[in-house]
Amino acid sequence: METKWWVLAMAVAVTMAIMGIADGDSSTPTVVKIVKGKKVCDKGWECKGLSKYCCNDTISDYFQTYQFENLFSKRNTPVAHAVGFWDYKSFITAAAEYQPHGFGTTGGKLTGMKEVAAFLGHVGSKTSCGYGVATGGPLAWGLCYNKEMSPSQSYCDDSFKYTYPCTPGVEYYGRGAIPIYWNYNYGATGEALKVDLLSHPEYVEQNATLAFQAAVWRWMTPVKKSQPSAHDVFVGNWKPTKNDTMENRVPGFGTTMNVLYGDNVCGQGDVDSMNNMVSHYLYYLDLMGVGREEAGPHDKLSCAEQKAFNPSSTTSSS
Ligand SMILES: *[C@@H]1O[C@H](CO)[C@@H](O)[C@H](O)[C@H]1NC(C)=O
Ligand SMILES: *[C@@H]1O[C@H](CO)[C@@H](O)[C@H](O)[C@H]1NC(C)=O
Ligand SMILES: *[C@@H]1O[C@H](CO)[C@@H](O)[C@H](O)[C@H]1NC(C)=O
Repeated sequence: METKWWVLAMAVAVTMAIMGIADGDSSTPTVVKIVKGKKVCDKGWECKGLSKYCCNDTISDYFQTYQFENLFSKRNTPVAHAVGFWDYKSFITAAAEYQPHGFGTTGGKLTGMKEVAAFLGHVGSKTSCGYGVATGGPLAWGLCYNKEMSPSQSYCDDSFKYTYPCTPGVEYYGRGAIPIYWNYNYGATGEALKVDLLSHPEYVEQNATLAFQAAVWRWMTPVKKSQPSAHDVFVGNWKPTKNDTMENRVPGFGTTMNVLYGDNVCGQGDVDSMNNMVSHYLYYLDLMGVGREEAGPHDKLSCAEQKAFNPSSTTSSS
């Protein structure tokens, strides 16, 4: 008798949660449970799997099609180089896989919006064909490319021949939303996404969902095990050590560039490649209605004075 009552009570509790009583206006019903004293949720396709992050707003709650169109307003003009390729749905589909792990869902709506602006700031800058006098301004041209146009080499590094051997006849030039270069990077990304990118790097320039997925994976994953991901340094999961502080690495947007590009971009003073990413981030904060003043002080935005997490193996400053 006792067990029956317990089962019934559970059923009622779960049903109420499924009906979305826990959160007011969201269109997707949210399942809410308490596991080991902690609240966890499942919001259907966009945030699946009983995670604490799924109890918060998801990206499509605060970032909608028209905003994507505003951010990347020139990508389908005739002079762009990937007309018809990139769209909102691909981004949201790709992001959905990482939202239960905190992508865009950590720390509440404002932090989520800032993280999406930061991630897309990297993407916009890396895929832009904007230049000083471009119509709409240089920042309106993100997602203009989905691949490197005139690769000067095939980016095959033979020192990885036992782990990520190059496929004969295949080229590993830059492709994607945060472009992937080199056989070893295609190999590692493919392994993580369970797609054979070492044999078929071209999939990345044929499938926008995959291209965004690879970029979000890169954002969410440390380059080396002992290090933070770009996501961690941005949302504040990462606590700098004494060394980090001495080398000017502080939580924020600047350090995301350090994680992803090291001394190609950081510790070089006020270089264009860095300023261009910062400008895209600030522009997107404005367009999303967050406002660039939310980005914080200059030393968090910049990595001009930071030492790289992973200094290039070559000691030259080429
Ligand atoms: C969810 O959002 C709230 C603020 O609305 C925030 O305090 C909390 O940390 C967020 N949850 C997670 C897991 O980040
Ligand atoms: C594109 O990539 C996604 C994510 O990896 C995959 O689910 C989908 O099937 C792919 N689409 C095509 C047409 O191959
Ligand atoms: C701190 O930096 C020094 C000098 O670069 C290095 O030798 C040391 O291993 C670092 N310590 C940690 C904990 O990373």
